[in-house]
Amino acid sequence: MQNIFKNSQEWLQFDHDHLWHPYTSMHDPLPCYAVLSAKGSKIMLDSGDALIDGMASWWSAIHGYNHPKLNAAIVAQTEKMAHVMFGGIAHQPASELGARLLNMMPDCFEHIFLADSGSISVEVAQKMALQYWQSSNNLKKQRFLTVKGGYHGDPFSCMSVGDPTNGAHHLFPTQITKHLYVARPEIGFDEPWDIDAVNELRAVIKTHHQSIAAIIVEPIVQGGVGMRFYHPQYLREMRSLCDEFDILLIFDEIATGFGRTGKLFAMQHAGIEPDIICVGKALTGGMMTLAATITTKKVAQTISLGDVPILMHGPTFMANPLACTVASASLDILLEIDAQTAQVYWQANVTRLAKALLKLQQLSGHKAVKQVRVLGAIGVVEMHENVDVARLQAEFVKRGVWLRPFGKLVYIMPPYILSNAEIEQLCDAIIEVIEQVY
Ligand SMILES: Cc1ncc(COP(=O)(O)O)c(C=O)c1O
Repeated sequence: MQNIFKNSQEWLQFDHDHLWHPYTSMHDPLPCYAVLSAKGSKIMLDSGDALIDGMASWWSAIHGYNHPKLNAAIVAQTEKMAHVMFGGIAHQPASELGARLLNMMPDCFEHIFLADSGSISVEVAQKMALQYWQSSNNLKKQRFLTVKGGYHGDPFSCMSVGDPTNGAHHLFPTQITKHLYVARPEIGFDEPWDIDAVNELRAVIKTHHQSIAAIIVEPIVQGGVGMRFYHPQYLREMRSLCDEFDILLIFDEIATGFGRTGKLFAMQHAGIEPDIICVGKALTGGMMTLAATITTKKVAQTISLGDVPILMHGPTFMANPLACTVASASLDILLEIDAQTAQVYWQANVTRLAKALLKLQQLSGHKAVKQVRVLGAIGVVEMHENVDVARLQAEFVKRGVWLRPFGKLVYIMPPYILSNAEIEQLCDAIIEVIEQVY
């Protein structure tokens, strides 16, 4: 391939003039930093600066960048086949990954749909739930119930179960299907539980259960909208209401899966299991796009026994062999046991990072800060007001760290490989910048 652009100035200008970035204006975009490469915990800018990564590329690159084992897995698979259609063809990379995923799941999970992105896995979960009830000859169960403050992706089906106020409902009022929304779970992860916290949920379920196919939530951490951590008892109550009123439960573990919250999956904080679970993001160690919708024998068999016995989804890049291979390699790293300490790789690192992130609590009591919270390898500083993203980012880059605040949130969701000194530098940068700017 011959490059069109001679230097980073040229391609950066093209980017500015022609390429949309996530949630930005084409006319007046937020500044972008030109990145030339990334290795381990560092992102290399064309300016020559190396930034310590505090975002894990939107929570996916848990092993850092350019990991030799992940690179090798992709190269080896490329030499066999980069892609082949999954319709009518089976391949070992898909089975290797499927078996690894089922080994990590509670026993009741048996069937997997390998989707090409997190949001598509959510759409597939929704279809599974709707087709489950159609196949059960219950055509009334057509709606979803969710809690406010959720995020499940940007396609219309995902937006429809996202937060009805802070999401995009107002932009597409006739296109977004209206479902049932109850107040977000208010009680924090380790605050005292109050049984009244599920009154509204119970009341809405009692009134509407005949039309509810499934409840969908992000377990424990509401990420994309507010980075809020809620009480595990809320999920236990939700599970028992689903059982009582014959409603399926979908957990979207796309952000929380693979150790991020201090458990391998966030549902383990509550000790309960949903009927359908979505995983993505960190599944491939952030190397490629891939997600999975995993369900029970009961759900899969019921769908298969209906008038329409097929699950109605089949994307071109379903179960892409490169993505499946690198996902298997990533899961193997995640579950590696350190010979000296006998600790599992993800657990040892997430526990270590969780301790280090507590340093952010120095900001508790600052006049501009509403709350500081830490759960697993997630550290959040919630401000009273929206932050100036461009300004804060420039300050962070000056201090050699990569962070991307949004709304009122300045947060760290780092790769698990960060050293103690690096995580400290990230925390120090946040503390310094907030103290300087506010
Ligand atoms: C909880 C949750 N669900 C779904 C998605 C959408 O995943 P993707 O961006 O891979 O489509 C996200 C992305 O941030 C997410 O955090």
